[in-house]
Amino acid sequence: MRDQDDDAQPATSTYLRYLEETDSLREQTNLDILAALDLPTDSNELDVGCGVGTQALMLAAAIGPQGRVTGLDIKPEFLEHARAVTTAKGMSDRVTFEEGDFSDRLPFDDGAFDWVWSSDCLGYFPLSEEVMRVIRPGGSLNVLFWSSEQLLPGYPRLESRLKATSGGLAPFGLQSKPDTHPLRALTGLREAGLTDTKVLTFVTSVYAPLSPEIRRAMTDILEMRWPDVEPELSQEDVELYRRLTDPASPDFILNLPGYYGFFTVSVFRGWVRT
Ligand SMILES: C[S@@+](CC[C@H](N)C(=O)[O-])C[C@H]1O[C@@H](n2cnc3c(N)ncnc32)[C@H](O)[C@@H]1O
Repeated sequence: MRDQDDDAQPATSTYLRYLEETDSLREQTNLDILAALDLPTDSNELDVGCGVGTQALMLAAAIGPQGRVTGLDIKPEFLEHARAVTTAKGMSDRVTFEEGDFSDRLPFDDGAFDWVWSSDCLGYFPLSEEVMRVIRPGGSLNVLFWSSEQLLPGYPRLESRLKATSGGLAPFGLQSKPDTHPLRALTGLREAGLTDTKVLTFVTSVYAPLSPEIRRAMTDILEMRWPDVEPELSQEDVELYRRLTDPASPDFILNLPGYYGFFTVSVFRGWVRT
């Protein structure tokens, strides 16, 4: 299987820039998540759909000097970038990257990992038998994904309509059945035989004044969040949407002196039976 969302995604170079630039926005929340997950130190971890590798480095720092992290991704351009950053940080003895498709046979032994982390891959992340195969008995699966947001304060009706578009609903399609919704992932974890399953929800609050990095990241989020949305909106909504989300517009929402928005990240986790 190739990356299922290839058609819906921006060009690889733009996608890579988005991933890099939004890291600053996600960093504190990811550290909070790591603290809450209390993952074992000196362990062996697999980061499925690792992107440009930022989180693989963060995970390696969290699990101590004897820990090892392997990042797996389908895009060689992302892995090239991840390897260069890892080498520059002197971490290549502890963090390595493999090109691969998580729905094919994975190039790892049964039970090779103490735990698996996968962030923002739910749109394409089937709870695959292969991923389950490579977690050791007693090890954990930790699937994270962006689960909701309020980004346009003062415009709840426009934001509701944006959320109801195909891009706003993705990866849940307009024809999808309720039991396939990502927020129902707990059922999938339980059906896969995982025990002690749970869901944790984390909130990232973003408010003015925005640092240049956070402003850049939020600009990217506003560009990415509702892709190709205009054909599904009324003309009036298109105009309002452009005014609020175009950085060149005098009404760009991030220019509000009291801007506040937030998004949530949900973590679905469970353990492989011993
Ligand atoms: C939204 S990005 C998330 C990247 C990273 N985990 C993060 O949170 O920054 C989704 C990642 O999944 C990767 N991906 C998509 N389909 C895949 C597949 N079938 N096998 C492996 N990786 C895949 C993409 O290349 C991309 O890097």
